[in-house]
Amino acid sequence: MDISFLLNGETRRVTLTDPTQTVLDWLREDGLTGTKEGCNEGDCGACTVIVTEASGTVKPLNACILFMGQMDGRALRTVEGIAAPDGQLHPVQQAMVDEHGSQCGFCTPGFVASMAAGHLLGATDYDDRLAGNLCRCTGYAPIIRAAKAAAQKPVPAHMDDRAALPATSAAPTPMRPTDLDKFADWYAQNPDAQLIAGATDVGLWVTKQMRTLDQVVFLNGLQALSRTELRDDALHIGAGVTIASLRDVIAPYHPSLSELLRRFASEQIRQAATIGGNIANGSPIGDGAPALIALGARLTLRHGAQRRVIALEDFFHAYGKQDRNPGEFVETLSVPIHAPGLRCYKLSKRFDQDISALCGCFNFDVQAGQIRSARVAFGGMAGIPARARGFEAALTGQPLTAKTILAALPALAQDYTPLDDMRASAAYRTKAAQGLARRYIADLLGQPVSVLEIQP
Ligand SMILES: Cc1cc2nc3c(=O)[nH]c(=O)nc-3n(C[C@H](O)[C@H](O)[C@H](O)COP(=O)(O)OP(=O)(O)OC[C@H]3O[C@@H](n4cnc5c(N)ncnc54)[C@H](O)[C@@H]3O)c2cc1C
Ligand code: FES
Ligand code: FES
Repeated sequence: MDISFLLNGETRRVTLTDPTQTVLDWLREDGLTGTKEGCNEGDCGACTVIVTEASGTVKPLNACILFMGQMDGRALRTVEGIAAPDGQLHPVQQAMVDEHGSQCGFCTPGFVASMAAGHLLGATDYDDRLAGNLCRCTGYAPIIRAAKAAAQKPVPAHMDDRAALPATSAAPTPMRPTDLDKFADWYAQNPDAQLIAGATDVGLWVTKQMRTLDQVVFLNGLQALSRTELRDDALHIGAGVTIASLRDVIAPYHPSLSELLRRFASEQIRQAATIGGNIANGSPIGDGAPALIALGARLTLRHGAQRRVIALEDFFHAYGKQDRNPGEFVETLSVPIHAPGLRCYKLSKRFDQDISALCGCFNFDVQAGQIRSARVAFGGMAGIPARARGFEAALTGQPLTAKTILAALPALAQDYTPLDDMRASAAYRTKAAQGLARRYIADLLGQPVSVLEIQP
């Protein structure tokens, strides 16, 4: 596979023998060893690089789970390319020195790359931006101080890669399609090919499970999969929309879901991971599915020119078994925009950058103090994300009171056989799910329910 990309301002043309070689491995073999390997699974941020998409979007990404096959037509800036060509330190580098923001050389390059990406974008949500960069020695206070100090300085001209983006190297190939219809036909004929969207799951199959992927298809060249459209009171969200974009798009309609997505992994993962991959992987602990099921989302699956639309909850049959035929792919999710009662709650051991032990999403339609309908879905409570049908039935038609919820809690316990694993025991999950139901009613009744709302 031939690719062209911009590396620290210089065009590189590379013939890849292995398109699933990670960007991190390629960089280090190319002599750019400033980008470090910490965890090799997207958790620590030591490998953070700055990527500019063909569309001009700038993203910090984890190079350890980014494949070289995804880089065609993009720009890549590593920690070696952050100081000016004449050697003058970038404002975030200078501020890290001035504020004593670093001790070891391992995590600092990743911090600097994340901070430089944020600086370029004018972002000031420093905690969120740096949640995917782990430091176990310096502490975050001097690092955040450095980010704030750097924000006062202008972006150095060399950091803008948009003007110099190279054209993609090759004509579209089955491995890197650009036309959705052609891809749909090809995949229907080649159902064994491995689809790769953001690679935040698939990347780990390569780096951790040491799997060799024979026939891969990189979906990131399919612009048509990355669109969202507002039509008929619903958002139609392409499978290739990233979690970061979805968080922005959904915020005006479903702020609680947007807030849940703030806690989806880290900025580096959110900028790579797609909602299509989050659904297609069938994970029982993914954060997208419970929220979208509670919203009544519908899923469009496509096989060649044929499309079928199903309720999202019907996609998940059993652990590892989804309603997807060979050669069929996830094309779109349609989400109603009206759901003022939607609330999404995530419980995990860490606030940031952690997979849910439990994710509970509630969506009641309340009219004149009465629950007209209830949709409730949980992740982490079964081998699949699933609705709490008994609980919903026990609530429908009842007055919206804490007493009603308490009376329905036994039905909630009956609805699920929770997972029992290292994230949480089954008993904890049952108890915590009931706690979330009680939290929901307090939330609807206007009481503060989040630790973030409680001021000392
Ligand atoms: C450090 C880390 C933290 C994480 N934290 C969270 C978290 O907090 N919450 C959470 O929910 N998840 C989390 N994840 C999991 C992961 O990021 C998500 O599941 C992500 O949405 C997967 O999307 P992707 O585009 O990267 O999928 P990929 O890795 O590209 O693909 C995943 C699977 O989906 C298939 N696929 C992708 N697109 C399609 C399509 N259009 N049609 C059919 N099949 C398709 C692929 O073939 C593959 O089988 C985390 C992962 C990491 C590494
Ligand atoms: S090496 Fe830890 S996120 Fe990449
Ligand atoms: S600077 Fe490396 S662990 Fe903190």
